[in-house]
Amino acid sequence: MKLLEERIQKDGRVLNEDVLKVDSFLNHQIDPELMQAMGQEFARLFANEKIDKVLTVETSGIAPAVFAGLALHVPVVFARKNKSLTLPDNVWTADVYSFTKQTTNHIMIDKRFLTAGENVLIIDDFLANGQAVDGLLTIAQDADLHVVGAGIVIEKTFQKGRQLLDERGIHVESLARIKAFVNGQVEFL
Ligand code: G4P
Ligand code: NA
Ligand code: NA
Repeated sequence: MKLLEERIQKDGRVLNEDVLKVDSFLNHQIDPELMQAMGQEFARLFANEKIDKVLTVETSGIAPAVFAGLALHVPVVFARKNKSLTLPDNVWTADVYSFTKQTTNHIMIDKRFLTAGENVLIIDDFLANGQAVDGLLTIAQDADLHVVGAGIVIEKTFQKGRQLLDERGIHVESLARIKAFVNGQVEFL
């Protein structure tokens, strides 16, 4: 998506060899017009699928997921990250290990908001090692949902996530695909 690539070139900051800071339009301050355009692009990319619901994980997946839901006219459910040791009743859960942060988050979704047989589209802001999406796939499997695909805002093709999702047979569409960071510059695929 050209608009997004231009915005990454203009406002993204390469922090080190594998992290891109995009907090001026996606991860802290949010540009609603860009989000809306991205939501419409996700709807176009998955136009051939029947979609009942959009799934994401808090926090940074919520903005793009809501605009995808708006364009698709379907509800959006975000998994919460549970920090306490005790889990509430009646939730689907999965463990999500972050290679970047070297911590495990337990994500959870209230069973009331997922119905067996529903067709869901997963949306997330970054695809790095794929652990967040994989956690949602675990929940989808446990809840008997059909995953039509995963829409990603920014994919880093040099990390393991894409291969993991390909191996799981997931239809992945990324709005920007980054091949490498070279001398502080972003190189797209
Ligand atoms: P994974 O889900 O693909 O395995 O990602 P990983 O564990 O490597 O990343 C942990 C967190 O860092 C995730 O956010 C992920 O979205 C984010 N992240 C990964 N690569 C980048 C990057 O290059 N730039 C930025 N800005 N973020 C990146 P999170 O912990 O779930 O945070 P949030 O959604 O609550 O903000
Ligand atoms: Na995320
Ligand atoms: Na994030």
